[in-house]
Amino acid sequence: MPIDNDVYNRVGESWWDEDNPLNMLHGSLTPGRFEYFREVLAARVGGDYTGMRALDIGSGGGFLAEEFAKVGFRVVGIDPSAVSVAAARTHAAEGGLDIDYRLGSGERLPVQDKEFDVAYCCDVLEHVSDLEAVIGETARVLRPGGLFLFDTINRTRTSRLVAIKIMQEWRWTRLFDTDVHDWSMCIRPDELIDVMGRRGLRPGAVVGLGPRSRNPLRILDMARAARGRLPWGEVSRRLDFGRTRSTAISYMGFAVRT
Ligand SMILES: C[S@@+](CC[C@H](N)C(=O)[O-])C[C@H]1O[C@@H](n2cnc3c(N)ncnc32)[C@H](O)[C@@H]1O
Repeated sequence: MPIDNDVYNRVGESWWDEDNPLNMLHGSLTPGRFEYFREVLAARVGGDYTGMRALDIGSGGGFLAEEFAKVGFRVVGIDPSAVSVAAARTHAAEGGLDIDYRLGSGERLPVQDKEFDVAYCCDVLEHVSDLEAVIGETARVLRPGGLFLFDTINRTRTSRLVAIKIMQEWRWTRLFDTDVHDWSMCIRPDELIDVMGRRGLRPGAVVGLGPRSRNPLRILDMARAARGRLPWGEVSRRLDFGRTRSTAISYMGFAVRT
């Protein structure tokens, strides 16, 4: 079955609802990813982001856009899912955050050249039909010296077990009854580094991203959530996603616009 990106329209109204499987990206993944991005930002940009411009490519419900806005960035979020864009707008307005959400895709970003100090693309690159185009567009919209931050799923036997078998295929643990990932579209770090290098983004080192809980019983939490007996947001918190030594499941990294 081809990857089903329309799921973000079917269930994208309630990204922020803990019972929505999309909330797995929030519970611990948002803080886990943002902690690493803050480290990179502190080292590369400094600590004051007031008025700096950040672009969220594939902004979904706005989990990360809100984090960047809260620390001072002027954020533009782009996503091809109209339902997700509407949900993100509503949530930001309810929280008094001024975020500019627009409909669009990473392959053709509806923004000007060199408009942004920072661009980030999180859990999106493994969904896009044209990775070269998305990375090329990212380079186009960053000012020279601008920073690109990302995370994506690796293409390893471990990632196939976790992201495809456990989270997508096994009936008793899967998040959706549709294919949200295609393992062949997942990207190895060396492949992404190669594309970024050719498109004007000088890559830095990558670090692992994955569950830090060592408790094998956490898989039972997924089975409970799949039956509606535990919120997915709570499953995410219990799995404690964040920076890991191993890059076998997912990885995060950065690159600088040359
Ligand atoms: C797994 S979600 C990640 C959402 C958000 N980045 C986060 O981490 O919370 C993937 C998102 O990518 C979006 N997406 C799919 N294809 C895309 C494309 N070609 N360009 C930009 N975004 C895309 C989907 O609509 C969805 O909102």
